[in-house]
Amino acid sequence: MEFMNRKPIIAGNWKLNKTIKEAIELVTLLKRLIQDTQSVDVVVCPVYTALSDVSEVLIESEIKLGAQDLYWEEKGAFTGEVSGSLLKDAGASYVIIGHSERRQFFHETHETVNKKTKAALKAGLIPIVCVGELLKEREAGQTFEVIQRQLEGAFVNFSKEEIQALVLAYEPVWAIGTGKVATPQQAQEVHAFIRKEIAKMFGAETATSLRIQYGGSVKADNIADLMREADIDGALVGGASLDANGFADIVRNAVSVTVK
Ligand code: PGA
Repeated sequence: MEFMNRKPIIAGNWKLNKTIKEAIELVTLLKRLIQDTQSVDVVVCPVYTALSDVSEVLIESEIKLGAQDLYWEEKGAFTGEVSGSLLKDAGASYVIIGHSERRQFFHETHETVNKKTKAALKAGLIPIVCVGELLKEREAGQTFEVIQRQLEGAFVNFSKEEIQALVLAYEPVWAIGTGKVATPQQAQEVHAFIRKEIAKMFGAETATSLRIQYGGSVKADNIADLMREADIDGALVGGASLDANGFADIVRNAVSVTVK
């Protein structure tokens, strides 16, 4: 499999799950189960309260730590918010931005995704920026249009260098937590479209080097077929990342595609 020098990335989005104790248990097991991080980057994204403890467990491990959101201001009177530098302080090196659940339940907009992504980069975090269409948008034939708008909105005033420093995740909303995974062909079609749009906006070189994950009901038994597609560079995994064996199997199957 040719990844054009794009190292695939498998990230676990734990969402609102796991106490600190449970998070430590999960990541302790993962550390033991996941040995090969040479060919695939592996990231876990616990809730804020578990970040620092999980980060302790991950010392001397190649598994990386990510957060699930951030606020764009550095500090000040913003009750309840957490900034990029505080995430770094807690040991994170990645942060998910613009997940569809944030867009749906917490009024995330193109503008907030833009500001958060800028802020994450400024703090030295690697943003995982999520895009994806709703079922009704897909059924109305608006998938490409929706994705295009999300990309244009997220990356207003971005430089090539900034795009090169982030990861994109295509997550069709109808596939998230539904068990209804997009077929490899459906996913590839949108990944190719995203790469083409990024090429239009930031040039072919930037587009070629950009890692684009797929997300939505990824499991150990569908990851390899997805990653065999030319433009799918890994996955953002929700439900299946909560179980150490299941997540380790996903990583193992992802690795098997890269060494084909
Ligand atoms: P899922 O979630 O794997 O449970 O479908 C994916 C995500 O929301 O990132």
